[in-house]
Amino acid sequence: MVDITIRDEDVTGYAGPALVVAVPSGDATLNEAARVVDERLDGLISRLRAEGEIKGKLAETTVLHTMGKLPAARVIVVGAGDPAALSVADVRRMAAVAARAARKAGLSSYATTVYRREDLPAVIDAQILAEGTILGLYRFDGYRESEVEDIAEVQVLPRALDRAEVAEGLRRGREIAAGVTLARDLINEPPNVLTPAELARRAQTMAEGQGISCEVFDRDRMRALGMNAILGVAEGSDEPPAFIVLRLGTPRAGIPTPCLVGKGITFDSGGISIKPAENMHQMKGDMGGAAAVLGAMRALAGLGIEGPVTALVPTTENLLGGRAQTPGDIVRAMNGVTIEIINTDAEGRLILADALSYAVQEGYAPLVDVATLTGAASVALGPVYSAVFANDDGTATALLDAARTAGEKMWRLPLDEAYEELIKSDVADIKNTGGRAGGAVTAAMFLQHFVDDTPWAHLDIAPTSWSDKDEGERTKGGSGVAVRTLIALVEAMASA
Ligand code: BES
Ligand code: MN
Ligand code: ZN
Repeated sequence: MVDITIRDEDVTGYAGPALVVAVPSGDATLNEAARVVDERLDGLISRLRAEGEIKGKLAETTVLHTMGKLPAARVIVVGAGDPAALSVADVRRMAAVAARAARKAGLSSYATTVYRREDLPAVIDAQILAEGTILGLYRFDGYRESEVEDIAEVQVLPRALDRAEVAEGLRRGREIAAGVTLARDLINEPPNVLTPAELARRAQTMAEGQGISCEVFDRDRMRALGMNAILGVAEGSDEPPAFIVLRLGTPRAGIPTPCLVGKGITFDSGGISIKPAENMHQMKGDMGGAAAVLGAMRALAGLGIEGPVTALVPTTENLLGGRAQTPGDIVRAMNGVTIEIINTDAEGRLILADALSYAVQEGYAPLVDVATLTGAASVALGPVYSAVFANDDGTATALLDAARTAGEKMWRLPLDEAYEELIKSDVADIKNTGGRAGGAVTAAMFLQHFVDDTPWAHLDIAPTSWSDKDEGERTKGGSGVAVRTLIALVEAMASA
């Protein structure tokens, strides 16, 4: 992860490879830093704006050489768009594209001003700057030589801002980005390396480093608990399944502990109801929900949040060995509900059934599960929004508020008794698929059978967990979506 440090210098004093300043669109007034730089460059920025070469469009970047007019060798101009419309998410995106422009120029370090939003505390500005920078520079390159040298350090010039506030914001941004980075790494890791056992080991290592307690249930323990739904999925694989429990902080008397649950399918072939080969490799990312809750737990501990909060990760492969679960099978989940398996590719809801049953039995509340659950959620929302379902308006609102704070797009879809008919089985209490129509909703309806009356929200991140291209702070591959929202949610609950 790139180092982000404070450098106590002004834009005219910084002698180094490049200096980042923001420029708005149209003829909106330049901010102080850009104005000073423009003056020293004899009005070059103004001139390029007048000629339309710098439009100031959001996240547009232009690299200028200073030719000795400033101690900085280059100025990287990043477009800020309409200053009146500039959102926190826009600022994160600007930081990410500026960082990638610096990388593209082959630099090993650069300095940046803070893209000040006058109405926000400097802590938030600095946090967002750190998040955007670190996440925009993220790469998964453990298995090959990198083609380009990378940025090792980014220096932030606090200028007139309170130095302590900037330092605190950068610290927060670093911890949050470390959580997202962990999630991306886990998603991008190949499935021959990231087996269920390896996921458990990585959870354990992370927990040890952060003062989080970690327990891993093996197959025998899961059998004793009656977790037959996850065990059924695991039957098709030679790799043993695991059930990971992380606990941060001490439960408080009389107040239930919130619980995050993440789907941890380390590879989803579809099982006997096998998937088409095209893009099947992306199903190494079917533990994106698990990655999100582990990333969030890491960051929460790093931020010094006391909790209490618990995370549960049921994890297995979904393969098609000789003992594999087959369509027509009936399994009894931990809470006693019987499930007819119609399609072995609807395995995520099966492993979550036992995890949610366990969470209810332990008395956790509210429950928030995160899962790459349905292609139908992508059909509904495209690669932009994650889908939210909830049996409780308070929990839904808290989650959507947290998503807004975190700059992650989420939209609530209905849970409605009227869909129940679609998952009725002739031979068991329910069946594990409800047909093509409303597939994201029927999956959520299925999960609802395992939460009783506990306040619960379900987040279907199938649309957003994987990125096909670099865009702002999102980079190609695992996105780490939901980490920031979960952090904001637990932080809000901790301060309530
Ligand atoms: N892991 C998939 C869902 C998924 C699809 C995630 C694409 C990310 C990208 C899930 O296990 C699955 O296969 N769901 C099926 C359910 C169906 C069989 C009812 C689906 O969406 O097709
Ligand atoms: Mn599947
Ligand atoms: Zn799956």
